[in-house]
Amino acid sequence: MKVLLTGGAGYIGSHTALELAKNNFEVYIIDNLANSSIEAIFRVEKLTGKKLTFFELDLLEREALNDIFDQNQFDAVIHFAGLKAAAESVAQPLAYYRNNIGGTLNLCAAMGRFGVKNLVFSSSATVYGNPEQLPISEDAPITDAASPYGRTKLMIEKLLSDICAADSTLNVVLLRYFNPGGAHESGDIGEDPNGIPNNLLPYITQCTVGSRKALTVFGDDYPTPDGTCIRDYIHVVDLALGHLAAISKLQQNPGLVTYNLGTGRGSSVLEVIQAFERTNERKVPYVIGLRRPGDVAECYTDPTKAKIELAWQAQRTLEDICRDAWRWQKKNPEGY
Ligand code: NAD
Ligand code: UFG
Repeated sequence: MKVLLTGGAGYIGSHTALELAKNNFEVYIIDNLANSSIEAIFRVEKLTGKKLTFFELDLLEREALNDIFDQNQFDAVIHFAGLKAAAESVAQPLAYYRNNIGGTLNLCAAMGRFGVKNLVFSSSATVYGNPEQLPISEDAPITDAASPYGRTKLMIEKLLSDICAADSTLNVVLLRYFNPGGAHESGDIGEDPNGIPNNLLPYITQCTVGSRKALTVFGDDYPTPDGTCIRDYIHVVDLALGHLAAISKLQQNPGLVTYNLGTGRGSSVLEVIQAFERTNERKVPYVIGLRRPGDVAECYTDPTKAKIELAWQAQRTLEDICRDAWRWQKKNPEGY
């Protein structure tokens, strides 16, 4: 089966490429390398002993994108490509709408033109905004997101829902990720953010390796047991395997379906720091700072729907995430 991964050189895409290649899928990747390195692809090839087909291309380049679809009959597409830094999207909304929405429009048009019927989309728990109820199930109300980035995810979900309503032969799985972390157990591929990391785990590993001074914990006055925010941290390999389950689901012609991918377990920022320190026997330098605008106090999934309908559930623990994230960072102090 030929699967195209847009954004497949990135953090989640490269881990998914590895699991797909291991399971004998033919993997094709389109990435403009805006937030990734081609080295990730070489390492996936080395780890799996399989060849991936890579096109360095921006999804906004419509003609070249159509040529790739014309020359390759893909069975399914996993659409990871997008800009993802929420704070940056507040400062540069147009860049986010252009890239994330524009790229998706071109991709959907190419799929339509060349008869590709199956799509998995990387959405986010950010679409739930400040949840009214915990844990969060897929039918929780979707109102607005806290950033232009989050709004692009909402808009793309709606766009995909509209095209599915217009064409009953299309199949789309929307995957709403909770908080991905960790790395492949080899320590050869992992998260390599450009500049200052936005996310907690890469910030912790960079502080521990010495490339940043101290982590700022964004607020300790939330209505949670220790006052810091609670999130559902999911190991990136479990997340990657969720995509394989989604591909199997597409083969049942489900139309449009949505799944949360998380563990169902919430951990506070201080619990993550403690788990990291315990697992790796390293101190994480940190200070308590102000709340970060847009953060919600608690966010964790009800994992039941994915467990029943995808026969998928996260297997790895927060300790696994901390151990594997640190192994990657230690082996690659400056990333790729
Ligand atoms: P990433 O930045 O590592 O990967 C995204 C990849 O897309 C990068 O390699 C980038 O170069 C590429 N890309 C961006 N715009 C492109 C374009 N116009 N044309 C071609 N390639 C383009 O991010 P990730 O963490 O692997 O996230 C993958 C997807 O999952 C994104 O859509 C992201 O919004 C979503 N997501 C991520 C998280 C998270 O915390 N990492 C959480 C929820 C959802
Ligand atoms: N945090 C800190 N200090 C930091 C970074 C983060 O205290 O330097 C805290 C945040 O306040 C939050 C927690 O760590 O409480 C997790 O923050 P992240 O930035 O790692 O993750 P978010 O939950 O804010 O958002 C992430 C992705 C989004 C995605 C969302 C889904 O970045 O793209 O998960 O839940 F939409």
